[in-house]
Amino acid sequence: MINRKQLMEAAIEAREHAYAPYSNFCVGAALLTKEGKVYTGCNIENSGLTATVCAERVAFFKAVYAGERDFKEIAIVGGNKGPLTESCAPCGVCRQVMAEFCCHEEFKIILGWNADEYKVYTLAQLLPLSVKANESPQIRGFMKNI
Ligand code: THU
Repeated sequence: MINRKQLMEAAIEAREHAYAPYSNFCVGAALLTKEGKVYTGCNIENSGLTATVCAERVAFFKAVYAGERDFKEIAIVGGNKGPLTESCAPCGVCRQVMAEFCCHEEFKIILGWNADEYKVYTLAQLLPLSVKANESPQIRGFMKNI
């Protein structure tokens, strides 16, 4: 099982793949499964802004596509192109994607600016009072009809 420093290094490397010609804000993410596999992602922007996808969702969707469902933690780094100087918090949409697949109290979100300097949060801390998988009334209603 890789350690947090290695997960941070994977996120820093993933950031090198960012396609961010519009914002010049480059983000990398490294998602660790409970079994110890790592899925990386970078942000991929688009001139039709809403088509942009964040690094975290690229990592999650690669992992979910590969059949993964059990996640331990995610390391995220981001900032203006060039050396990292501060941490980068995940957007609301990415937090909601994490909420679909992760235990709110156990899943850790690691935000840092180098492999040794980071802070660790739970998903519950970053997304309180959230809609959880299978708990949304809309989804329950929808499930009844199929
Ligand atoms: N971005 C991410 O990839 N993850 C985050 O946590 C914050 C924002 C991207 C989206 C966009 O390409 C750029 O950073 C500026 O918002």
